[in-house]
Amino acid sequence: MNFGERQTLVSTLLRDVRQTGPLPFLRGWLRDPMGVGLPFPSSPWTARRLARAALDAATPGGGPVLELGAGTGAVTQALVDLGCPVPHIVAVEQDLELCRSLEQRFPGLQVLQGDALALSRTLAREEVASARVVISGLPMRAIPSAAATRCYADAFAVMPAGGSIIQYTYGLRPPVDPRVMPALEATFVGREWRNFPPMGIWRYSRGQ
Ligand SMILES: C[S@@+](CC[C@H](N)C(=O)[O-])C[C@H]1O[C@@H](n2cnc3c(N)ncnc32)[C@H](O)[C@@H]1O
Repeated sequence: MNFGERQTLVSTLLRDVRQTGPLPFLRGWLRDPMGVGLPFPSSPWTARRLARAALDAATPGGGPVLELGAGTGAVTQALVDLGCPVPHIVAVEQDLELCRSLEQRFPGLQVLQGDALALSRTLAREEVASARVVISGLPMRAIPSAAATRCYADAFAVMPAGGSIIQYTYGLRPPVDPRVMPALEATFVGREWRNFPPMGIWRYSRGQ
């Protein structure tokens, strides 16, 4: 990374702290430590890599980018910074205060407060019928396999053929075992070390 890129990321970090502050995320974590994972959001470096991976994987003309477990919007902000307009993003988040903080930070963002593990029901309620890519910050390692499988099946159902799920995790293995679903493939995108703890990024797709 050159000096200019480093400066951009540092100013992104400062802007993120100014925009939301650490408190909404910290309070979300205190309410649900298992669901939120750690008391702080993804680093700007991680968020940018995730956003880039998602936009690279997006199928053309397939609806909005669907973000599951958006928190205070670290990844949402990176999507916007990379040129994805706010109205082209749909965020699903279960925590009410975090939803309010997303709405304040991104006027015009469609925020669905609900359970991403009951994804088809949550999307149907707000008439979201399609997505061009899904980014998931859900803590899949802590989620029972049957619930993770149903969530992924629902996610693939709203994407055109060739759709992908970008999933991030602190673990070393793919957080959803690809054997849970026929033809599911997990590809390691990379690990972002400028995150505490370092963050693994996986891309899930379905073979034919
Ligand atoms: C690891 S945090 C990621 C937050 C943010 N995307 C980031 O990268 O900083 C996981 C987020 O998923 C949300 N979450 C966990 N389980 C969920 C569920 N079943 N439905 C919707 N959101 C959920 C948590 O409230 C939390 O905001």
